Amino acid sequence: MSIEIPAGLTELLQSFTVEVLRSQPADLLEFALQYFTDLRERERGKAARGGPGYERRGHPRGVNFAPEEPMQTDSENGEEEDDDDEEEFVAPVINRFTRRASVCAEAYNPDEEEDDTESRVIYPKTDDQRNRLQEACKDILLFKSLDQMSQVLDAMFEKPVKCGEHVIDQGDDGDNFYVIDWGTYDICVKSDGVGRCVGNYDNRGSFGELALMYNTPRAATIIATSLGAIWGLDRVTFRRIIVKNNAKKRRMYENFIESLPFLKSLELSERMKVVDVIGTRTYTDGEQIIAQGDGAESFFIVESGEVRIVMKRKSKTEKEENGAVEIARYSRGQYFGELALVTNKPRAASAYAVGNVKCLVMDVQAFERLLGPCMEIMKRNIANYEEQLVALFGTNMDIADSSA
Ligand code: CMP
Ligand code: CMP
Repeated sequence: MSIEIPAGLTELLQSFTVEVLRSQPADLLEFALQYFTDLRERERGKAARGGPGYERRGHPRGVNFAPEEPMQTDSENGEEEDDDDEEEFVAPVINRFTRRASVCAEAYNPDEEEDDTESRVIYPKTDDQRNRLQEACKDILLFKSLDQMSQVLDAMFEKPVKCGEHVIDQGDDGDNFYVIDWGTYDICVKSDGVGRCVGNYDNRGSFGELALMYNTPRAATIIATSLGAIWGLDRVTFRRIIVKNNAKKRRMYENFIESLPFLKSLELSERMKVVDVIGTRTYTDGEQIIAQGDGAESFFIVESGEVRIVMKRKSKTEKEENGAVEIARYSRGQYFGELALVTNKPRAASAYAVGNVKCLVMDVQAFERLLGPCMEIMKRNIANYEEQLVALFGTNMDIADSSA
């Protein structure tokens, strides 16, 4: 019996496979759904406009570009186009260092973002650059669960930084989002004419998302305190991919975040900002999420599964270690990892996944910026830890001094 392969099936599956391999999506099913929905819309768009090749959302192929200049592709330039879907064209170069002329606090509506005028910017990179970029981006929360990660990486450009350079000035318009490759940077915020350093980045992390997400002036000044290098992502690409993904995140997590008692001191708009900056991380059974004594960079909310908190107590006089004791278990809706961020000390205990676990994760800068109003509730809880430890270990412990 011969089975007839429908016309177009092979090409369809090939294109899809190529896109999967390029994008390496975290969620294949979600990616497939998006891919085929987009494809159908594109086909409908072509039909409605009376012919093939009007929209150009495929990958740029066969385009020459000057090194150091971004290659940009654009879906709608209003000019006559040939009907070959493979063709791409070069659109005007975006000057990544040009600041927008005016500040506007537009309403935040990601659903209306530059959706139909999809444009792609590509900065060619050496293997070394691409490796460094991937390493720098792997823990960036805003990049978690993005289906278009390869587009983001393509669009990023390297920018060397001098010691003392102001990478961002408070009050300016937002041009780029930055991921740190290396170097140290201070975060300075001026209010009522008084400037102060509110934090710093040490060879990792990202900044510059707020002005791009909310169309507001830069909220802080970022000053390099060493030589360094950062990766920039232009505003248009950031809004097209990250802000759009945030709209999806809001739909997914709005109700969950609303239901969390420890966030109840936040206004609704503040809770949505929490959703905007969180990323998700998954862990398998037994995997370590936090290690006692480590430096702290993140705060966790359990979305699903269970997390064991385990503490090893070291005698202060002898160097010997007493056994590890389970001190808490957290499930959906509960948080952990706040103590070290509040006390600025190493992690007081370790956390392990029990079964498969998914956590919402927030970085320390967002934690400090957004969760101030929740501190009362958190501090009350922290006060209980000490009592709990006295009951468990029979002695008073300085939980803030766990690294000893
Ligand atoms: P943006 O406002 O675009 O530019 C300055 C960046 O500093 C801001 O985005 C954040 O990414 C980062 N930042 C870190 N900590 C703070 C803070 N406490 N207040 C404001 N911005 C901060
Ligand atoms: P952190 O110290 O950042 O990392 C370990 C986490 O374990 C800690 O924050 C708390 O969130 C959590 N924890 C739960 N119970 C205790 C406890 N009794 N003492 C200290 N930390 C605790």
